[in-house]
Amino acid sequence: QIADRKGIRRGKLRLGVVTTAKYIAPELLAAFGAQFPGIEFSMKVSNRDEIIQRIQNGEDDLYVMGQVPTDEVDVEAIPFALNPLTVMVPRAHHLARLAKPVPLDAIAQAPFLIREPGSGTRNAYLRLFGEKGLRPNIVMELSSNEAIKHAVASGLGVSILSIHSLALEGTSGPIEVLEVEGFPILRKWFLVYPRGRLLSLTAQKFLDFSVSQEQFITDRLVQLWPDLARYL
Ligand code: PGA
Repeated sequence: QIADRKGIRRGKLRLGVVTTAKYIAPELLAAFGAQFPGIEFSMKVSNRDEIIQRIQNGEDDLYVMGQVPTDEVDVEAIPFALNPLTVMVPRAHHLARLAKPVPLDAIAQAPFLIREPGSGTRNAYLRLFGEKGLRPNIVMELSSNEAIKHAVASGLGVSILSIHSLALEGTSGPIEVLEVEGFPILRKWFLVYPRGRLLSLTAQKFLDFSVSQEQFITDRLVQLWPDLARYL
C-alpha cells in the first residue's frame, strides 16, 4: 500500500462473496471507491461452500458470508448487514389468495425450486422446514438466484431467496414476496477473514466502511419491501 500526497491509498482489494451479497457488494465498492480512488477491486461470487474453500486456500483479502464457518476454518467475523430471506411466488399466484400469514405447510406442498448443495441460503430454509417436520416438494434444483427468479416468474414453482435479489426490479414486479409463517428468516452477513491474519490497510478500511453502512442498507431494504419494518 502506498499513501499518496492526499492520504489516499493505492492498493488492491480482493473480495470473495456469497451469491446473496452480490446484490449489495458492487454498490459498497462504488461508494468506497469514490472515497478512496485508485484501489483496484476484484470480486469472486460463489456459494457458501466454495467461499469456505477460498478462505482455506487464502485466495482473497476479505469475505462476505451469511453463516460464520465454525468447524471448517478459524475466522474473525464481524456482522454487518441484514439479509432477510423471503418466500417468493409469481404475481397473482393462488397461494397469495390464502389468509396471511400463509402456513409453512402450504409452501412445503407447492412445487419448490431449490438451490444447490453448498448454498447457505438452502441450508437456512431446509433447517426451518426440518424444525417444523416438513420437507419441500422439490421439482428443480438451480445453482443461481437469478435463474430461480426467472423460474419463479415462469411459473415453474415457488422458492425462497434473499430479498436483496429483488433490488433492481422491486417487489411489485413479476415476483411477489409472500407473507409466510416463520418468515422472513432474518439473517445477517458477516465480514470474514482468517483469524490471526493481518488485514491490509485497504481491507481494514473497506471493513470499517461496510460496517458503517448497516443502517443505510436496512433503510433501503425497508424501502424495497415495507413489510420488513414489522419484523425489525
Ligand atoms: P449462498 O449465499 O446461498 O450463495 O451460499 C449464502 C448466504 O447468504 O449465506
